[in-house]
Amino acid sequence: MILFAKLRRTNNHVCPWWLCYSFDNPLRRLFHDPERLLGPYVKPGMTVADIGCGMGYFTLGLARLAGPEGKVIAVDLQERMLAALESRARRAGLAERIVLHRCRPDSLGVDGPADFALAFWMAHEVPDKPRFFREIFTLLKAEGRLLLVEPKIHVAGRSFERTLTVCRETGLQLLEEPAISLSRAALMRKEKRWR
Ligand SMILES: C[S@@+](CC[C@H](N)C(=O)[O-])C[C@H]1O[C@@H](n2cnc3c(N)ncnc32)[C@H](O)[C@@H]1O
Repeated sequence: MILFAKLRRTNNHVCPWWLCYSFDNPLRRLFHDPERLLGPYVKPGMTVADIGCGMGYFTLGLARLAGPEGKVIAVDLQERMLAALESRARRAGLAERIVLHRCRPDSLGVDGPADFALAFWMAHEVPDKPRFFREIFTLLKAEGRLLLVEPKIHVAGRSFERTLTVCRETGLQLLEEPAISLSRAALMRKEKRWR
């Protein structure tokens, strides 16, 4: 309980590297199987971006789905997260499909274009959401899609709705709200009038 209360208070604060081990572990596969969850959106040959990739829980699955002709741009603020991801990717023989990118707190600075972007359990840590979603919008191809997933423990329903409003104002159209354990989720794509 104390940890949960502390986590709620740290809204908009960046997840420290040591906390990553509490959710980035083999048990998580029971409810967040990366390939099963992302398989409907990622096909071989695609360029995908894993924004706020942490230690790469989803990055390796994305790299498998994108295949040898595809590419994953793994973006995070923290060097320590990217270093852990790099060793995991080497051990899994997937390093060549993954481009590591350390961003700044106020700018992703990623070159696209990407077919698909994932922002899993991270957007609540971003203080300037309009700017953040504008950057994702620019990063995506015309038919590109964004899967936004937020943890229920940190993000109340109303707060998630406000984030979806920001997305809509940026030109991202809501396609569906997939059911993902412990989470609030939205699949979006660029609205036609903005392309
Ligand atoms: C709770 S972790 C989630 C990691 C991973 N997506 C997962 O689901 O296992 C949030 C991650 O987002 C990163 N992050 C926070 N703010 C960010 C920003 N503005 N740009 C990029 N990454 C950010 C943090 O450094 C941290 O690694």
